[in-house]
Amino acid sequence: MTSDFSIQLTSVAKQMETVLAAQLPEPAGHQSVIMEAMRYAALGGGKRLRPFLMVETARMLGNETEGVFIAAAALECLHVYSLVHDDLPCMDDDDVRRGKPTVHKAYDEAMAVLAGDGLLTHAFELLAMDAVHSDANVRLGLISGLAKAGGAHGMIGGQVIDISVSETDRDEALITQLQELKTGALIEYSVSAGASLGGASIAQHDSLKNYARDMGLAFQIKDDILDVEGDAELVGKAVGKDENLGKATFVSILGLEGAREKAAYLGARAKGYLKPFGKDGQTLCDTVDFVLHRSH
Ligand code: IPE
Ligand code: IPE
Ligand code: MG
Ligand code: MG
Ligand code: MG
Repeated sequence: MTSDFSIQLTSVAKQMETVLAAQLPEPAGHQSVIMEAMRYAALGGGKRLRPFLMVETARMLGNETEGVFIAAAALECLHVYSLVHDDLPCMDDDDVRRGKPTVHKAYDEAMAVLAGDGLLTHAFELLAMDAVHSDANVRLGLISGLAKAGGAHGMIGGQVIDISVSETDRDEALITQLQELKTGALIEYSVSAGASLGGASIAQHDSLKNYARDMGLAFQIKDDILDVEGDAELVGKAVGKDENLGKATFVSILGLEGAREKAAYLGARAKGYLKPFGKDGQTLCDTVDFVLHRSH
């Protein structure tokens, strides 16, 4: 990973902060607390990796418009909703997220459920905006793609397997499926939506999807590794949770070294799918190194 990459990631994160602040509803009316809770959850933290993937994929293919940033803000809203609900007492029961109290700690449980709901629905309002793309068919594809990636066949399905998988079902195939749904679906969408916004050919789209599948799985394996050996201060959330909650992860079945090897293998394969893009694929290639070596 070059330091140019960190500068690029920070720069997109800053732009995302501005776009999110502008696009999230302003507190108003008797329900102003919900707008405050949504803004509390979405602003001031996070790596913004999914927006980065969308923005950089679209940029690689020649689309650098403001519309891409609005689509990326929609994606981040859906991701943040998933975090707010993931942290609830009935899910992982976490007190800290992105280095600050979780939404149900800062507000209360009911408001955290509703702030999540608000962010989820706002994502689709944003994607429908004319500013996202002049072609309504492209916007429709983005909307239906996000619904699929976030739904029962995507992230939500993964969350359900995550909380219900029994000890006897814990093999590598099941954990791969769990992680591909829980985290992979949204990461694949990030790249795939960037490809649609950039007008990718079918062949380019296929290569990028393969890239995103392997990189997304490597990303979640690294999340599981950080849960074991990460520094809570740096990662901005509690560590040691997965073992406490009896979660099935690649670390729990392959051990730390096995999980590291698996992530490295997937990372190398992800990079291979970028070959058709030549030098233009460098940022997405560097993203793999960031994912594998990140400390947060
Ligand atoms: C955390 O995602 C949840 C997972 C799917 C592993 P990130 O590690 O991208 O969290 P933020 O957005 O940077 O806070
Ligand atoms: C959560 O996975 C994935 C989501 C869909 C939010 P984790 O439960 O491992 O995420 P963290 O570790 O709490 O961020
Ligand atoms: Mg969880
Ligand atoms: Mg969690
Ligand atoms: Mg985790």
